[in-house]
Amino acid sequence: MTPDLMDEGTERLQAQEKKAAVTGQTESGGREAGFSRVHTPGEVDVTHGRILYLEDVHVSFDGFKAINGLSLDIAPGELRCIIGPNGAGKTTMMDIITGKTRPNAGKVFFGSTIDLLRHNEPQIAQLGIGRKFQKPTVFEKLSVFENLELALKMDKSVPSSMLFKLDSAQSDKLADMLHTIHLADSVGRQAGNLSHGQKQWLEIGMLLMQDPKLLLLDEPVAGMTDDETARTAELFLTLKGKHSLMVVEHDMGFIKTISEIVTVLCDGAVLAQGTLDQVQADERVIEVYLGR
Ligand SMILES: Nc1ncnc2c1ncn2[C@@H]1O[C@H](COP(=O)(O)OP(=O)(O)OP(=O)(O)O)[C@@H](O)[C@H]1O
Ligand SMILES: [Mg+2]
Repeated sequence: MTPDLMDEGTERLQAQEKKAAVTGQTESGGREAGFSRVHTPGEVDVTHGRILYLEDVHVSFDGFKAINGLSLDIAPGELRCIIGPNGAGKTTMMDIITGKTRPNAGKVFFGSTIDLLRHNEPQIAQLGIGRKFQKPTVFEKLSVFENLELALKMDKSVPSSMLFKLDSAQSDKLADMLHTIHLADSVGRQAGNLSHGQKQWLEIGMLLMQDPKLLLLDEPVAGMTDDETARTAELFLTLKGKHSLMVVEHDMGFIKTISEIVTVLCDGAVLAQGTLDQVQADERVIEVYLGR
């Protein structure tokens, strides 16, 4: 999540919702298809055991096939790790799920009923898919507390940020979050003065304040100290089950600590999938890691 995306996103979504309420039309002028509507706001249909489903997705950049027949699915509450060599298409996959990049072909579903290809980036965020980019993006001039408070204000159930005041449930939630992200002792500190790892935790906390159903994290421990990496692993393990997580990482020690199923991407498709031990013993995986 970037601050400008957060702000722009909310504004655009509010404008679109107003327009849609009046005309029943989508942004592009088409009629919203019934099967992509969320009938109960905040609920994703996971009766088929999948919170995310990608089937035969293709993306080309000027003829270069960055994503080439990618299919994978994630179960609700799962913590899925994605590994793969540089250029495998891991970030591009996250761009597709979050609506930043449009695929040339394929299916991308959130639960079994929400066709993500029919939604734009801010709408996808509102549906409950949070994204953490590699670089920490927090409001540097604001305190840790204010950053988390601001994230709460982005919540779709709160109509106007101007009139916003924390109620007691929200205050409790914020206090719990400070502990979860190991920043309870730094509540009044300016975010700009935090370490790199602490900024990463703060941004993760900001995403969590919005109760995402699915959280995508691209190289969350890159640049962290060993101690920060270990504490991040702890944090992710506490999130598992409550949220569905997709974590892209190159740090195999970190992956070993947190992973159940690991998916290996290569050349824009799934090369192997299994436990870390299984995929690391796979000849094809050894080849792509050592052969380049
Ligand atoms: N907007 C774009 N225009 C052209 N090529 C792109 C674009 N985005 C990604 N690519 C190319 O697509 C391929 C996949 O890139 P991607 O960033 O998804 O890889 P990655 O698996 O995230 O790699 P890394 O581990 O280095 O982060 C790369 O060859 C990259 O150069
Ligand atoms: Mg990447």
